[in-house]
Amino acid sequence: MHKSSEQKDGSESETPNCFDSFTHLASTKPICSHKNTFPMKRTVRPLFVLLLVLVFVATLTSRAILRRSLLSVELETRVLTRDLSPLNATLLQHAAVEIGEEKSRKEIQQLLDGNFASQARHRTFVSWRRFIHHDSDRNLPATLRSPLFYRYWLDFRRVLHDWARKRRFQPGIMGELTRSVKVPLDRFNKVVDVAAAAKSGDKKYSSCAVVGNSGILLNRNYGSLIDAHEFVIRLNNARVDNYENKVGKKTSISFVNSNILHLCARRAGCFCHPYGPNVPIVMYICQAVHFLDYTVCNGSHKAPLLVTDPRFDVLCSRIVKYYSLKRFVEETGKGLEQWSSAHDGALFHYSSGMQAVMLALGICDKVSIFGFGKSPLAKHHYHTNQKSELHLHDYEAEYAFYRDLVDGHKAIPFVSDKFKIPPVVMYR
Ligand SMILES: *[C@@H]1O[C@H](CO)[C@@H](O)[C@H](O)[C@H]1NC(C)=O
Ligand SMILES: *[C@@H]1O[C@H](CO)[C@@H](O)[C@H](O)[C@H]1NC(C)=O
Repeated sequence: MHKSSEQKDGSESETPNCFDSFTHLASTKPICSHKNTFPMKRTVRPLFVLLLVLVFVATLTSRAILRRSLLSVELETRVLTRDLSPLNATLLQHAAVEIGEEKSRKEIQQLLDGNFASQARHRTFVSWRRFIHHDSDRNLPATLRSPLFYRYWLDFRRVLHDWARKRRFQPGIMGELTRSVKVPLDRFNKVVDVAAAAKSGDKKYSSCAVVGNSGILLNRNYGSLIDAHEFVIRLNNARVDNYENKVGKKTSISFVNSNILHLCARRAGCFCHPYGPNVPIVMYICQAVHFLDYTVCNGSHKAPLLVTDPRFDVLCSRIVKYYSLKRFVEETGKGLEQWSSAHDGALFHYSSGMQAVMLALGICDKVSIFGFGKSPLAKHHYHTNQKSELHLHDYEAEYAFYRDLVDGHKAIPFVSDKFKIPPVVMYR
């Protein structure tokens, strides 16, 4: 009934909104030379000369080695450094304006202001509950009618408040993703190596596959290649059963938008596990009220249910908007101020796939992208019969972003230049 809708990559409204300490030490130590002036016995002298020659040779070779390794470090840095000059200041400025910002702040404030009994709160709650009541399942509604729900309400407000307060632009947020996402996952997966655990704030996954849901996956058999990655990210609970040859079967995290959890919330125990109950979920919030679903579901999930850092959301929004503005101006010849009406500015949102790729850039040493893009010869989704894309997203703009990632030299707007973007490969 609701099966197909929950598999859409759909977010209903915009609430996008995302530090870093890189200390790079390059020290060169002065090389000390000793002048030997003290007197010596004749018999010792040949031995000493030999020693001196040895030391001399050793110094020379180690210097050569040092120079060579410095050179290779330099070359590597040069390859990874992206050219910042082509970023257009006007576009950057426009992309930084959040059209839906005012409205969404107001909504959040309304949710936070009232108490459980107040009118506006009551309405929100009732419509949310009515939605949940759709299910014939008895367990959850019973829970919701109980005084326990009042506690959920308090938790909801606390979580929403913390989230709203954090929501701002912070270009260095990419450097925080291992700490905020990988560390909790490692803890859950009981990464026992003590040294690794201590360092897990810096250590990334060696390779990640982000698996999109495009029908182009059906044209190839990438299953085993996908599963060969250390970390596999899947999107919006697209099923893998019966598609293993095409999409693989390994899932490290399920990346979803909060509409998906909202749909799961009406099932017993907030069932949301097409990949099994041990697969953590990482979710971005598309509507503030979805924190209710989060609060109710968080306790019933065995695996972590993580909400993306709102500063990370803001960063993703700005990047996609930059590419969308650029494309709009280049392709239509119209002015930037007309972009908003063409793209329903207040509702405009990045897709789940885009943020999943961004997450992979933050927590992986190498990123492979599968199942992104469309083709006249392919279905829209590999697993549904949905006909076309949602208009909330500018997929073409996102493809342009991925092309720049794969290229490796193009500047990516808004990402701190201290953050080194790992190599990205796109499989079509
Ligand atoms: C930046 O983009 C704006 C809008 O597309 C354009 O008018 C302007 O010429 C661009 N500036 C540069 C330096 O390319
Ligand atoms: C969500 O659940 C986890 C595990 O039960 C808990 O540690 C965490 O504090 C919860 N999050 C919130 C915001 O309540």
